[in-house]
Amino acid sequence: MIDKATVQKITDAADIVEVVSDYVHLIKRGRNFVGLCPFHNEKTPSFSVNSVRNFCYCFSCKKGGSPVNFIMEKEGLSYHDALLHLAAKYNIKVEEKELSDDERRQLNERESLLVANEWAASRMEKDLKDTDEGRSVGLQYLYQRGVTEEAIKKFRLGYNPDSGHALTDAAKLDAMDLKSLAEVGVLGESQKIPGSYYDRFRGRVIFPVLNASGKVVALGGRDLKGGMAKYINSPESAIYKKSNELYGIFQAKSEIAKQDCCYLVEGYMDVIGMWQAGMENVVASSGTALTDGQIAMIHRFTDNITLIYDGDAAGIKASLRGIDMLLAHKMNVKVLLLPDGHDPDSFARANTPENFRKYVQDHATDIIRFKAQVLLKDVGDDPQKRVAAIQSVVQSLAHIPDKVKRNVYIQECSRILGVSEDVIEGAVEKSRGNVVEQQRRQRQNGEIDRLEQEESNPQPNIAGQTRSSRGGQIIEKYPFYPFERNVVYQCVRYGILDFAEVEFDDGTIDMINVAEYVAEELQADDIWFTFPAFAKTFSRILDLKEDYFNEKVGFNENLEKEKQELLESGYKEIASKDMTMAEIRRAERLLEDRVNEEMAKRRFEFARYFIEQKLSSHSDDDVRRTVTEAINEEQPLSNIYLRNNPVSERKMEVDRMRVLVPRGVLEWKNELLNQRIRSKMKQLDSLREHTDPSEQHKILLEIQSLMEKRGLLGKEMGDRTIGTKIK
Ligand code: CTP
Ligand code: MN
Repeated sequence: MIDKATVQKITDAADIVEVVSDYVHLIKRGRNFVGLCPFHNEKTPSFSVNSVRNFCYCFSCKKGGSPVNFIMEKEGLSYHDALLHLAAKYNIKVEEKELSDDERRQLNERESLLVANEWAASRMEKDLKDTDEGRSVGLQYLYQRGVTEEAIKKFRLGYNPDSGHALTDAAKLDAMDLKSLAEVGVLGESQKIPGSYYDRFRGRVIFPVLNASGKVVALGGRDLKGGMAKYINSPESAIYKKSNELYGIFQAKSEIAKQDCCYLVEGYMDVIGMWQAGMENVVASSGTALTDGQIAMIHRFTDNITLIYDGDAAGIKASLRGIDMLLAHKMNVKVLLLPDGHDPDSFARANTPENFRKYVQDHATDIIRFKAQVLLKDVGDDPQKRVAAIQSVVQSLAHIPDKVKRNVYIQECSRILGVSEDVIEGAVEKSRGNVVEQQRRQRQNGEIDRLEQEESNPQPNIAGQTRSSRGGQIIEKYPFYPFERNVVYQCVRYGILDFAEVEFDDGTIDMINVAEYVAEELQADDIWFTFPAFAKTFSRILDLKEDYFNEKVGFNENLEKEKQELLESGYKEIASKDMTMAEIRRAERLLEDRVNEEMAKRRFEFARYFIEQKLSSHSDDDVRRTVTEAINEEQPLSNIYLRNNPVSERKMEVDRMRVLVPRGVLEWKNELLNQRIRSKMKQLDSLREHTDPSEQHKILLEIQSLMEKRGLLGKEMGDRTIGTKIK
């Protein structure tokens, strides 16, 4: 644990331009810097670095954040390790504080599982090479399958001796925590004798699964004796979610970025076979259908993916699965079928690396063309099948986000399917609307999912106890989620700015800030943030008022000094010129105006960016994420708006804040009324059967009053709608 003062020192020292420059060649553009995004592949720069706000952001893939965030993302580090990384860069001495019990527990849970896996993987690497059984059974098997020494080392292959207790014994000798080893599935616990353990991977060759930052999150064990289960794998745990990992990503990621292409295969051995044939940009989905999370991981490194499958019916089917999802992610998808009966591993062994690479180059087919051809082959004379095939192709076409690209494909598919372009285009455009809507909903849900998952520090996800977190359920659980989000985002942006003067009961007058205004408004109607991450972030924002006032004192002193210096040097310069008294006076007045304007701007920026400065590197994942997303989502004032409004940017920001914040609150309250009205209506409906007129009348009156309230609110909202639109 790093103490708070040191964290502050590190985040103060870390300069976003310097930090990002270690990875990206930055070019100055206006007040900002731009460069090629390090999180995805691109040819024109969309990665922007704002030195004033100490923040970076990719307009294309939407990644970015504070220096700490950047390092976490780029190096695949935890918050804690990212701070250490930055401390080292800036020569800041870190003395780690003793952990509190709670902190230790949280850190330990994940950490101890990673330690357990790492220990097991290295132990079994050794057992492969250093034991007789390892050599004669495990190594022998690998050699026989043509696996090279180099690949064994690169993929950290291992062997678990067959005795059933070799690893358990070694763990005891090394004083390892057996419970953790059991939780990651390296050991099994005997059902008959609790507290007694055995080797779960006994007699198997081991394939460790490394996450993108090289940590061992799971193991796969290949049976060598023709047993029932060819592979057994680690169960899901706090450190392993199968659908989020790709086998080989750690070894492949830099090559994927370099080649700007990723090969996707099915199995452990396929990855190794391709790697040995010199195609190092390869990962495996480990025999399951590709998930959104896996696609997103690949997409961090490239837009281009080639699926490689066995040429049999199952392989063809597998290649068609999930293509709409890949297309929707704006990936360029190709598919390559190997000759029937071959998987990449066997094909690699049957061919020279050169031939294999040439085969891949020559046979990779664009996936949509492939789909049209495959489906058409099946159709024969059956008109119904033909319609179904066309519909299926149309569906895929509708998933292509880029219109130009879509049209190119429409032309081609029209040719392959023998259907006029107009017909296909009409059908595609029609279903495009649905796809977009569906994706919008999924995105919203996905975002909710992610936030929900990270809403509190990752809790141990004990094996088998998966957390179901569908977006729909979240909306059910947090029915005001979008409204809360809007308001909390506004508060991240404007929370510390002055909102209004209020007179308190004791007659004192004080200025409340935007966040306090929101708090008062919410409390007046007895509502509050229900989504935990938002509630937490909002409280932090309210807490910042005191810090703000304290730091403002020092800031203003420095600013005052700077102002005097600017004025003095300005006066001197004026005095050095040959001017009349009147001219001097005019020049001095101009100078003073300019300096005052600059100071006002600096003061405004200090307040405007105070919250993000303080919270975008906050240790709490929820807070940091919410703040980062709020900043990322921020829309700059448009150039047209700036040109047409001859007032300062500062003034316009305040104008915008005055519209957006109250309206966000009103919209939230409006939704609250809507829901209350709906539930009263339902109540009324259910009453009708029992006909209790007085009860009915009462509810009707309640509905009426709610509707009146909503009417007033609507009017207020209308008054506040001054042409600015919120997303
Ligand atoms: N798999 C699994 N459990 C099984 C079978 C397969 O987890 N019982 C996963 C493994 O990740 C495997 C992948 O699915 O690598 C592909 O399966 P398969 O093609 O059958 O295995 P290969 O990797 O080709 O292994 P081998 O060549 O040794 O048969
Ligand atoms: Mn195989």
